[in-house]
Amino acid sequence: MFARPCTAPVCLVSALVFVACGEDASNELSPSPTTDNNPNQDADAGPPNNDGAPPFGELPVFIQPTRLCVDPLPGQPEGQSPNGEVCTWQAIAGATEEGRSFEDYASCDVVRTQRPYFPMPSHDAYPDGDPRMEDPAYVAELAWAEGQIRATGCACCHSDNAPLGPVRWTIDAPGNWLGTFSDRDVAALSGLIDTSMFGRFAPADNNGFHRVDSVPSTDPDRIRAFFANELAHRGLGPEDFADAPPTGVPLLEQAAYEAGECEDGEGITPQGTLLWSGGPARYLYVMTPQAQNPTIPPNFDLPEGTLWRIDVPSNGVPVLPGDVTYGQLPAGLIQKHPASPSEPPVALISGQTYKLYVTRDVFQPITRCLFRAP
Ligand code: HEC
Repeated sequence: MFARPCTAPVCLVSALVFVACGEDASNELSPSPTTDNNPNQDADAGPPNNDGAPPFGELPVFIQPTRLCVDPLPGQPEGQSPNGEVCTWQAIAGATEEGRSFEDYASCDVVRTQRPYFPMPSHDAYPDGDPRMEDPAYVAELAWAEGQIRATGCACCHSDNAPLGPVRWTIDAPGNWLGTFSDRDVAALSGLIDTSMFGRFAPADNNGFHRVDSVPSTDPDRIRAFFANELAHRGLGPEDFADAPPTGVPLLEQAAYEAGECEDGEGITPQGTLLWSGGPARYLYVMTPQAQNPTIPPNFDLPEGTLWRIDVPSNGVPVLPGDVTYGQLPAGLIQKHPASPSEPPVALISGQTYKLYVTRDVFQPITRCLFRAP
């Protein structure tokens, strides 16, 4: 199932909101049917449907993560960087310093270009209130978890500050905000559902926040235990999510996609001109045929085996097939590999096979194929 290409515009819309594409997508991904054998009629293990996702043409251009360093807000403690600034990766998986709010130190507008943002209704697990809110130890742990999430890019969409409203769950809900999490949301962040394809920074580069199958946290075991505790409180456990589909299925599909031979003139001309199909492009990769397919930053977009990668900056004009010659950086573009902008990529060897991977924007492939160097 992971080999199906996904390039038609309608497919892209689905891919962007991270649901599977193809006619049978609704069957594949609707919440697992509950049966009489399943005591947890509302374990709701399936991923969310994406009613309300913006149409493809209205999605913003993906802005690449940058690390922003600024002075602490008035009245706040010195930052941990050598000159006292607070440094924060402006990314979904980024985190500012513990105890601070991500939104005070990074742009959520940038983060909200990095995956589709649109409001989605919240779950309501505790409509009559939650007696645990009388327990000071519980309330303290809840406040710790809230502070951790508020320090991360997750809060850009999963808090009431999101301009059109929160997506599914929000740390700003009155009473126990955990009630806005569906059972599947809780299971995902307790580590039972694989969310690794959404990416992570090295903790040393992310103010000590580790992301291990949950929200990035300075104490990943504690945050997963916090969610596991909530799951147990709801009478659910690992067995209820054994068959739950992972998150980010289209990303997994893109990663596993096996490129076929280039067709219809795709590939490279004897003069070195790169040709692809699908129209204007922002990201071009020439890779070894075995290289992993690139997906999203920070850790899945420059796979080993990348020989050359060039990007159109988010405020630049996409390039067209025929505009690019291998190894020659067109004006206005950025060479991401080799890392030094003046270092040319290795020369292609005549007769050898390479992979051409071209995307309209991050995680929107338009050409993925193998060509033989002329
Ligand atoms: C740019 C907006 C945005 C940001 C930032 C964001 N999310 Fe979400 N999140 C969404 C949307 C939209 C959905 C629902 C659609 C979907 O799952 O594809 C969602 C759904 C989820 C779900 C349910 C997924 C499932 O398959 O059931 C979890 C869990 C989640 N987010 C966790 C996180 C975590 C953890 C972070 C931070 C690392 C984060 N989100 C950051 C927009 C965002």
